[in-house]
Amino acid sequence: MLGDKRQIKIFDTTLRDGEQSPGASMNLPEKLQIAEELIRLGVDIIEAGFPIASPGDFESVREIATRFQGATICGLARCNNADIDRAWEALQHAESPRIHVFLATSAIHREFKLNMSRESIIENSVAGVKRAAGYCDDVEFSPEDAARTEIDFLCEVVEAVIDAGATTVNIPDTVGYATPTHMSNVITALKNRVPNIERAVISVHCHNDLGLAVANSLAAVEAGAGQIECTINGIGERAGNCSLEEVVMALRTRSDFYTCDTKINSKRLVPASRLVSSVTGLHVQRNKAIVGRNAFAHEAGIHQDGMLKEPSTYEIMRPEDVGFEKTDLVLGKHSGRAALADRAKQLGFTLDDDQIKSVFKQFKILADQKKEVLDEDISCLIEKEICEAN
Ligand code: KIV
Ligand code: ZN
Repeated sequence: MLGDKRQIKIFDTTLRDGEQSPGASMNLPEKLQIAEELIRLGVDIIEAGFPIASPGDFESVREIATRFQGATICGLARCNNADIDRAWEALQHAESPRIHVFLATSAIHREFKLNMSRESIIENSVAGVKRAAGYCDDVEFSPEDAARTEIDFLCEVVEAVIDAGATTVNIPDTVGYATPTHMSNVITALKNRVPNIERAVISVHCHNDLGLAVANSLAAVEAGAGQIECTINGIGERAGNCSLEEVVMALRTRSDFYTCDTKINSKRLVPASRLVSSVTGLHVQRNKAIVGRNAFAHEAGIHQDGMLKEPSTYEIMRPEDVGFEKTDLVLGKHSGRAALADRAKQLGFTLDDDQIKSVFKQFKILADQKKEVLDEDISCLIEKEICEAN
């Protein structure tokens, strides 16, 4: 708790789950650049990769673990000795290392992917966590596909891995199947039914197949989760993961409701988003919440007029707080006279009411032909008006 706000840990997995987005592979210098930005952003945990996956992945986890301080550095491992040993080899020099072990628990995965009984799932999970705990104190366990796992069995697994030494239990909605109420019910059940649950931090890891990853993560926090796994720009497997910038700003903007916060330096959100987009080649849609180019842009006349009178009429966050320079009043066919007059003033022109009226008429004709009327266009229209008047 900081003041009266519960602190939620931000576990960034841009370099691991994010890199699993088709077409998003990153090389070592690119990963180091992103890790540096994540440290600046103030994330609590960086999941740097899956060390056994490839020599390149091993190398980047090792380099990040060795070079960066100020965040826990985490490496992923399946529940087998080779994976866990390799993860530790990569992480051993970190100031604060974490091994993240996972094994699927849902009936679908048990039957069709693993061909394992419930008993052997528990046995393997416990053995994996114990091996990881032999290397470091900070061990996270993920029952993969937890959201589709029978709740009684999930409670059993979670209790067993906490007894074995897991300090964080992460609840993945691996296939993005959950809804907010579903996620909330799972976390509530764990809190009510797992006797040793207080000994571990409950985490959530939501995928975005139904576009619900952020809503599901928030519901989990409301129900008591203390860690959110997320990625910059929401990149990740298929439709991606919970978007870091969205979940962080939701908690901050609605702290009246959630009474939670994170230690993220929100002014770094836009720079981090731009870096990840340029490194991965995955473009951010214009209307993406928080970091999209339109997130603080207004074109409608009524909105622009409101914004010029008082920004809180149409903005719930300040653009500067997420790293944009300022609000963007875009001049287009929906814009009104107030925005045009304001832009003329910003461009250094002093016009009387009649001049504004006349320029506005020309502006509307032009706006019907162009998607966006640029400053150069406005200057031209005004200069023409001034010339004609003289
Ligand atoms: O989606 C998932 O289940 C994962 C686990 C490895 C946590 O990414
Ligand atoms: Zn995932």
